[in-house]
Amino acid sequence: MRIAILTGAGISAESGLGTFRDKDGLWNRYDLEDVATPQGFAHNPALVHEFYNQRRADCIAARPNAAHEAIARLQNSAHEVTLITQNVDDLHERAGASQVIHMHGQLRRALCAACDHRWDAPTAMNPADACPSCGAQATRPDVVWFGEFPYQMDAIEAAVMAADLFVAIGTSAEVYPAAGLVELAKADTLEINLAPSARANAFTARRFGPATEMVPVWVDEIMG
Ligand code: APR
Repeated sequence: MRIAILTGAGISAESGLGTFRDKDGLWNRYDLEDVATPQGFAHNPALVHEFYNQRRADCIAARPNAAHEAIARLQNSAHEVTLITQNVDDLHERAGASQVIHMHGQLRRALCAACDHRWDAPTAMNPADACPSCGAQATRPDVVWFGEFPYQMDAIEAAVMAADLFVAIGTSAEVYPAAGLVELAKADTLEINLAPSARANAFTARRFGPATEMVPVWVDEIMG
């Protein structure tokens, strides 16, 4: 079976990484305009690097959970799984997943705003860092900010449209284009989330509960 999976911050919540819109979420502690927009970066690059340095350190200290591991198991089965994530952490890869499509970029990667060169980010980045390729002091985390284009949308949309099953896990469905992918699905769709997302009614099926409980059960059913 061809399965397209979209994950959000909720799948990494039980690994201790914050979500964005839950009551103690990142956007209740930081103004996203300051730390997740090109304008915010231009205004205060040191603050933005500090925000992502802390998230990168948290990510390195975190461990994949049973939900990440179950998805990796499914990906290594006979099913054809396309794994799309809005998350910038690397917990899917560290659980054994491969070809993960990071539509919002990755904390572990750096980007040069001057020449578009990309490389593995150091644990801590700062505005004085020079690009290893062009030398410009214009390095930034390789993450997609509000107002920027998500990565690999053509491949993502093609996979969702071709899927026999589209599954969204741990996302509030508040941010497009990710939240609109369910409309592209041509077959069955399933939402697995702690609580109904903003698009819950667009899915043909819904399961509510913590990802570390719900995802392994669902994967075991699919793998029969
Ligand atoms: N198990 C399953 N779902 C959970 C859990 C859990 N343990 N904990 C929280 N959730 C759910 C919440 O109910 C919520 O619906 O995960 C969702 C997290 O929603 P958000 O915090 O909005 O995260 P996400 O949907 O990934 O945000 C999308 O917004 O800010 C941007 O770029 C950022 O990629 C992010 C995008």
